[in-house]
Amino acid sequence: MRSKIVAGNWKMNKTYSESKALVKELKKAIKEVKLDNTRVIIAPPFTNLQKASKKTKDSLIEVAAQNMCKEESGAYTGEISASMIKSVHVDIVILGHSERREYFGETNESLAKKVDTALKNKLEIIFCFGEVLEDRKSGNHFKVVENQIKKALFHLGSGAWKNIILAYEPVWAIGTGETASPEQAQEMHAFIRELVAERYLSDIAEEVSILYGGSVKPANAKEIFSKEDVDGGLIGGAALNADDFMALIEAI
Ligand code: PGA
Repeated sequence: MRSKIVAGNWKMNKTYSESKALVKELKKAIKEVKLDNTRVIIAPPFTNLQKASKKTKDSLIEVAAQNMCKEESGAYTGEISASMIKSVHVDIVILGHSERREYFGETNESLAKKVDTALKNKLEIIFCFGEVLEDRKSGNHFKVVENQIKKALFHLGSGAWKNIILAYEPVWAIGTGETASPEQAQEMHAFIRELVAERYLSDIAEEVSILYGGSVKPANAKEIFSKEDVDGGLIGGAALNADDFMALIEAI
């Protein structure tokens, strides 16, 4: 049975001490919750990765990096490699977030390389994709999403898919307060699962968790998470506050 997942992407928020405080709050709160086939993941900035990983070792919270260099090592000033992430006992990385695509020039092609490097280093991947508003308005959203997934992931063999989590994040819904309706999310998630089933086996499609991201908050989470093909959320804003994040975990 595929896992339900609530993952918090802290983006470029939280100083060292703020991050420590939030991890402490979450760790305490999570003890009160019964997690049934549900994974809870947080992705703090790199400066807090080691601390967060150490502090959550004895808890149900898992830690992810927000990004990673496609190269293994060398003269790439300012970059962080897969093995560096692994060396602080972090086993998950978010790749392909729309902010990385938009502000840092990441493409489907460069992401395919990142995916390979991550898998080679035994990192599990939360792979993000999603259409911009113009694509949705012109009815191109399915084509765009299909292209993003095919170009970055469909070169993989079947065995790799146990290390892939998909995150559909319509760009027009990220940080805007506007959410895809539960029906729009379900429609796209079912389409994605079908795409995976056509390329691989239906077992693989059934096992892959597909998260929704884009202005998920306590007020709308339950309805979105209740959809058959929505296996949880990748959360930005509402992951920065322990009460909100815990409410999302309760919602799932
Ligand atoms: P948001 O961000 O929840 O603040 O819209 C989601 C994301 O970017 O993953």
